[in-house]
Amino acid sequence: MAKSFYVTTPIFYVNDSPHIGHAYTSLAADMMARFARLQGQKVYFLTGTDEHGQKVKKSAEAAGKNPQDFVDEVSQRFQKMVQDLELTHDRFIRTTEADHKKAAQQLWKTLVEKGEIYKDTYAGWYSVRDEAFFQESELVDGKAPTGAPVEWVEEESYFFRLSKWQEPLLQYFSENPDFIGPTSRRNEVLSFVKGGLRDLSISRSTFDWGVPVPGDPKHVMYVWIDALTNYITALGYPDESELRKKDGLWQNALHVVGKDILRFHCVYWPAFLMAAGLPLPKRVFAHGWLTNAGEKISKSLGNAIDPFALIQEYGLDQTRYFFLREVPFGNDGEYSVSSFVQRVNSDLANDLGNLVQRVLSFVHKHAAGKVPVPGELTQDDEDMVAQWRKVYAQMEEAMEEQSLHRAIEKLWALVSSANKYIDTQEPWKLRKEDVQRMETVLYVLVEVIRQIGLMAQPIVPKGATKILDILQIPEKKRTFDDLETPLKGGTALASVEPIFPRFQVSEAGARDAG
Ligand code: MSP
Repeated sequence: MAKSFYVTTPIFYVNDSPHIGHAYTSLAADMMARFARLQGQKVYFLTGTDEHGQKVKKSAEAAGKNPQDFVDEVSQRFQKMVQDLELTHDRFIRTTEADHKKAAQQLWKTLVEKGEIYKDTYAGWYSVRDEAFFQESELVDGKAPTGAPVEWVEEESYFFRLSKWQEPLLQYFSENPDFIGPTSRRNEVLSFVKGGLRDLSISRSTFDWGVPVPGDPKHVMYVWIDALTNYITALGYPDESELRKKDGLWQNALHVVGKDILRFHCVYWPAFLMAAGLPLPKRVFAHGWLTNAGEKISKSLGNAIDPFALIQEYGLDQTRYFFLREVPFGNDGEYSVSSFVQRVNSDLANDLGNLVQRVLSFVHKHAAGKVPVPGELTQDDEDMVAQWRKVYAQMEEAMEEQSLHRAIEKLWALVSSANKYIDTQEPWKLRKEDVQRMETVLYVLVEVIRQIGLMAQPIVPKGATKILDILQIPEKKRTFDDLETPLKGGTALASVEPIFPRFQVSEAGARDAG
């Protein structure tokens, strides 16, 4: 039976336009979804927008719009982003949708029934930008630890008995050491929980842009309890059957998040689920921040990079490739135009693009444009043709750990091997000396290009598709299972077209310099 894989991105606040930080999370999750589908897994990929709360409400006011019109408009921009990124998501969820509101209210009711919620008064600091409550002791120079301004909030509020879940959470983390990745983030969460948990305010009564609290419409739910529920709304909750299915989507769920929202996903969310008697997702993986001149890229810091502009100028494959390869997934990563251009020129245009172009043009010129029929294979040929097995195993292992950059690096080691093989076999010499041997060498190369094309699909889908199209590989023969079935000699190739263009390094450098 096919394994299941459920992958989610954080749902994006609709307070402002999408920037490259949002695109980054989405592209990473998309690579995982594509990879798992090619492995033959049953995949569900969820993304969407987080549309309630004070931050969105204030942005709507600033724009002079009523909140619903405002969120409809901004959510559209995120829908356009996921379209431009050509994400392979199964649903774009919006927290203002009816099924989601119903799910959030059901979770609330269950928590009430289980005695996990009580009414009191909240008095403390609130950061609208982070949508988070802070204790006096947590403030740094009168601001939230993120540097966001805080305001004093004193209002009637419902509370969730988070303190009660401190020990069960610690026990769960120790029994499920893979629940949080990478390890540095796991340690961060452990020390936060060990430091003691206080009950959490989970409703607001001084504004109304949120899901109404069941039975007390003066209150709206705290935006995080509403937002986190989106992950189970999409699986049909309040119907719990998918959540409880053994080895179903939920038991194999991975939440991809940025490190700034770790606490919400690794402490609050599992506590809500435990308290409601629901099973937990399999894993939460937190990536780092993209930085520009060392600072987190964000709208509020005014250094945002427009993903649309980047894609338009350099292409979608190039944008995917740079961010997923350059930044070790889990760490912070610096973006600059010159590092972008250098990376895509060297890995895409030179290493992979040239390999394909050189070999396939040669086949067109000197081997009648058909997959050559090989003679007997030498040990070198055998090694080259079989190298994918090791590479694929390494990629699978890296993907299991969300080590996206490592998976890509392993595949590019195969690209380098193929380039070396050309240089040592020298097919252009063989053309004059030993045509049969030349055909064998070319066969090996075309077969390896096919393997690379298959494995490159989750990374650079457009380029990989072009490669597989030139090789005339039928759509149905493009899964990872098909790695096992080598090309047959004699098939005609389509005409060769450039796969990855080169960009000017000097212009890029000038732009970084401002
Ligand atoms: N709405 C919440 C998430 C709710 S999930 C139940 C939220 N939204 S957000 O729009 O502010 O951020 C969405 C994601 O984008 C977060 O994972 C955040 O880490 C990520 N990024 C925002 N800026 C980023 C960078 N500069 N670099 C990398 N990712 C960043 O938080």
